[in-house]
Amino acid sequence: MTDLTGHETETGLVPPGAAPGPPPGCPAHTGAVSLSGLEYQQTPSQLYRALRREHGPVAPVLLDGDIPAWLVLGYAEVTYVTAHDDLFARDSRRWNQWHAIPADWPLMPFVGYQPSVLFTEGPEHRRRAGVITRALEAVDQFELAHWCRGIAHNLIDAFAGSGRAELMSSFAHALPMRAAVQMCGMPAGSQDTEALVRDLRISLDAHEGDDPVAAYVRVQERIQRLVSDKRAAPGTDVTSRMLDQAAGLSDTEIVQDLISVIAAAQQPTANWICNTLRLLLTDDRFALSVSGGRLSVGQALNEVLWLDTPTQNFIGRWAVRDTQLGGRQIRAGDCVVLGLAAANTDPQIWPEGHVGAENSAHLSFSNGEHRCPYPAPLLADVIARTAVETLMERLPDVVLAVEPEELAWRPSIWMRGLTALPVSFTPVIVR
Ligand code: HEM
Repeated sequence: MTDLTGHETETGLVPPGAAPGPPPGCPAHTGAVSLSGLEYQQTPSQLYRALRREHGPVAPVLLDGDIPAWLVLGYAEVTYVTAHDDLFARDSRRWNQWHAIPADWPLMPFVGYQPSVLFTEGPEHRRRAGVITRALEAVDQFELAHWCRGIAHNLIDAFAGSGRAELMSSFAHALPMRAAVQMCGMPAGSQDTEALVRDLRISLDAHEGDDPVAAYVRVQERIQRLVSDKRAAPGTDVTSRMLDQAAGLSDTEIVQDLISVIAAAQQPTANWICNTLRLLLTDDRFALSVSGGRLSVGQALNEVLWLDTPTQNFIGRWAVRDTQLGGRQIRAGDCVVLGLAAANTDPQIWPEGHVGAENSAHLSFSNGEHRCPYPAPLLADVIARTAVETLMERLPDVVLAVEPEELAWRPSIWMRGLTALPVSFTPVIVR
């Protein structure tokens, strides 16, 4: 049974002598800004600029329930943290605040330790991440684009005749989930696959009335069956390739890591698609050349990674020992949140104020040992680009069905995405 509280002192991960309350000099005592109170912040770039002006590149913040942490806002500082696993590590059981965190804490899904690739460190992490990388490397990008086109056409068929759609739920969220599940070897469109897609959606993004815990149990059971089936009859898919490797992963480890891969693919890619569609539909620079304008879709995708990146903040890393960062004293076990969106717009790297879309030196896929593993960013690009291009080809006169100012960002400081993207277009007869 996984301990979500991190109180496994025998592992030595909870620093000996960790104080029961916020220690002197901790972020809570130095004018920290509450991040949870800012959940309705529609333009977080202004918030990040204000925080940077007031606190410098590393700001003391309070997470839900006034739990202290550090938000790293500087490009150089995020790069430093992610490149130094010896100082800032991934195993959340190091946290010196577990005594203050209730079991139903809203951020538990992000920080609750699980024995998956996400929280492993050192050689064990390289073993787990290496298996994922090799299994993803063999994905044929042309075949993936072909699947994504098929999935996109099916989704569009469902609303094309009506002339109206809400693209967030009926397209942007639905597509990457199906693509990821198909990459892992589940047959497209079967009832079983659709049930898994539904349960994944509930466990990752529960709506009112959903039971995310029950859905997650069903996801685990279904992925366990997938692993057993592929062990008995391997195919040319990510699951079979993970099973086929000499790294000696157990079936349980493979189930955990497959769920991590599908979950890690789903939310950021869905929001990348949606934020790109929003940019294309609201920004005059793209309006004239959208339909059939391949170059401008590519530019829009890249610009979104700089300015409206899906994983705007990532929690996180935990300090291995007392250290310094951006002029701050960081204590062993402190939580460090990677401010990826703030780092991308850091005035230190854009002294003239222009955030360029021409290169891909952004930190949207993070950096270092735990960064989004190669070649996942390339596969995400294939999925997102194919989704956007297919939609624009099928519905060439698509326009927003509301005023741009009416579009609302999700009340989350973690994932940057819209609550809904309503559009209208000339109805298309589906054969
Ligand atoms: C096919 C799509 C994708 C797959 C399969 C995928 C897979 C993964 C996996 C397995 C991890 C965990 C790495 C580790 O802990 O070693 C990860 C981390 C991450 N991914 Fe992705 N991902 C995808 C798309 C994306 C997209 C579109 C974005 C954002 C634009 C993104 C941003 C990140 C970030 C920020 C992390 C955290 C890195 C860190 O801890 O420093 N990913 N991804």
